Amino acid sequence: MCGIVGYIGEKQAAPILLQGLRRLEYRGYDSAGIAILDQGCIHRARSVGRIDNLIDAIGGKQFPGTMGIAHTRWATHGGVTEENAHPHSSCDGSLMLMHNGIIENYRDIKEKLGGEHVFRSETDSEVLAHLIEHHYQLLTGKEGDARLRLSVEAALSHVRGTYGLLVIHKDHPNCIIAARLGSPIAIGINLGEYFIASDPTPMLAHTKNVVFLDDGEIAAVTRSSLDTFTLKDEHIVKCVEQIDWNDEQAEKQGYPHFMLKEIFDQPTVFEDAIRGRYNLAEGTANLGGLNMTPTEMQRVSRIVLIACGTASYAAMVGKYAFERLAGIPTEVDVGSEFRYRDPIIDDRTLVFAISQSGETADTLAALREAKRKGAFVRGIVNVIGSTIARETDGGTYMHAGPELAVASTKAYTNMLAILLLYALQFGRQRRVSLATGQRLLGALREIPRKMQALFEQAPAIEALAKKYASYEHFLYLGRGINVPVALEGSHKLKEISYIHSEAYAAGEMKHGVNALLCPEFPVLAIMTKNQLYDKMRSNVEEVRARKSKVILLVNEGDEQAKELADDVLMVPPTMELLEPLLNTIPLQLFAYYIAVALDRDVDRPRNLAKSVTVE
Ligand code: G6P
Repeated sequence: MCGIVGYIGEKQAAPILLQGLRRLEYRGYDSAGIAILDQGCIHRARSVGRIDNLIDAIGGKQFPGTMGIAHTRWATHGGVTEENAHPHSSCDGSLMLMHNGIIENYRDIKEKLGGEHVFRSETDSEVLAHLIEHHYQLLTGKEGDARLRLSVEAALSHVRGTYGLLVIHKDHPNCIIAARLGSPIAIGINLGEYFIASDPTPMLAHTKNVVFLDDGEIAAVTRSSLDTFTLKDEHIVKCVEQIDWNDEQAEKQGYPHFMLKEIFDQPTVFEDAIRGRYNLAEGTANLGGLNMTPTEMQRVSRIVLIACGTASYAAMVGKYAFERLAGIPTEVDVGSEFRYRDPIIDDRTLVFAISQSGETADTLAALREAKRKGAFVRGIVNVIGSTIARETDGGTYMHAGPELAVASTKAYTNMLAILLLYALQFGRQRRVSLATGQRLLGALREIPRKMQALFEQAPAIEALAKKYASYEHFLYLGRGINVPVALEGSHKLKEISYIHSEAYAAGEMKHGVNALLCPEFPVLAIMTKNQLYDKMRSNVEEVRARKSKVILLVNEGDEQAKELADDVLMVPPTMELLEPLLNTIPLQLFAYYIAVALDRDVDRPRNLAKSVTVE
């Protein structure tokens, strides 16, 4: 949460920083701020609300200067006010700081700094600016930019918590200090200029060469150099990594919202996810990132899938796939619960941490716990170079490209793709026949075309959404592999439309939920033709008998089912294990068009952020 961006080079910094903030807005969007250093002066602007408000706050003022830092905030400590927006300054205004993370012992630090410092905000972050100022004043004997770096290092040695931070000082016109513990920092390298940000998306237009700081590292960035150190001031050499995303992928490309663009991206990015990762002749997948020998694979006796939010619903589909194809008992755990319940993990447990951002704090903490207990830990991650990608002992990038809408869509389908391939890889080693493996891969290859065909229904789904947008409650039902689909459909609806929505395994209705059924509580039931079709049909009959409106998601050509429904959504048939890849898409579109009909901020829903880096 919170996005930070910095620039140092020869170009005007403000436009680069503001454009960078737009790319990071998914990380938080309640307030924003910028500081530019020019000829010994720091120009600062802050505002509540979106980046456009910040641009208004800058207004006609001149913000010249070729280095600066900027921030978009998701409030944790202190309300959404201009005073609490970053950058925060030292008492004398010489130093400006931006912070992503939480300083847990900020009260103690504040007390120790005592009456000598004037605090102007309610944030934990501001104490860091004063603490660095304090150490800067003590280090009078030090010359040059090292004085600034050493004062940041000294200050951070007193801090408990997490940070990704950027610091500038008016007396250091060729230096930005960046430091990381728990919150990501990527540094993009170009000739005579450097870009620093919470992730590489703000720098894609300028460079693909990126250095990622690891925890406990600090960087001193000038126009001509990048030096990296530990917090104990030991010099370290970092590798430069190549980012294969491009800037156009991070644009709306004519769509009104990122979410709609990302829904329509799905056929293409799905192909990217599976390309080169299977062998049709052998009916198996070959995900090299697994980094396990065949013997190690054989020894796996349990799989645990850890994820949060939409990723956790993808994980539930993964559980079906691993159990059905590989016969390996598989559990799904949400990151926030895993480490607080003494999970049973041993050296035969394989843990997958599944995360679009690769930064979700709960997922990350859970994977660290699993590692501590001796599990094999692998990542299924979208953002290249992200923390989960770096801390796992292998894994697979999902190749969904930049996903910028807060509500996850294309990353979800690509998580499914990778989970299915892993399940097949283990399955072929255990009990899946060549013919079944080939049949599954054949069906998988058909998915992009079927997704594309689904989009023809978008206008009809839009009309349906308008019809149902005024309802205050929704119920999503599914059985078997479509339970997670119902959960994800319901999750999408509440995330972006703020309509109360629940999802249940349809067989559970009679144990409580039936009490809710009434004409004001529409039900969206997934009833595609799989082994549980007849059971699902009976559950839908029960719903109709209680006079709820029914929207049915059925396979094309299922004419009979239409008699049961007030409205129908159609999907092409596929193998049961692959159904979630198709069935989820009309539900994404339904949620999207309802949110649009209600005039919601689709890409930036209230109170949420995409990359949740706090517990
Ligand atoms: C946030 C987002 C969700 C996302 C979840 C997990 O809550 O709003 O859309 O599913 O985080 O994110 P991850 O990056 O770990 O997949």
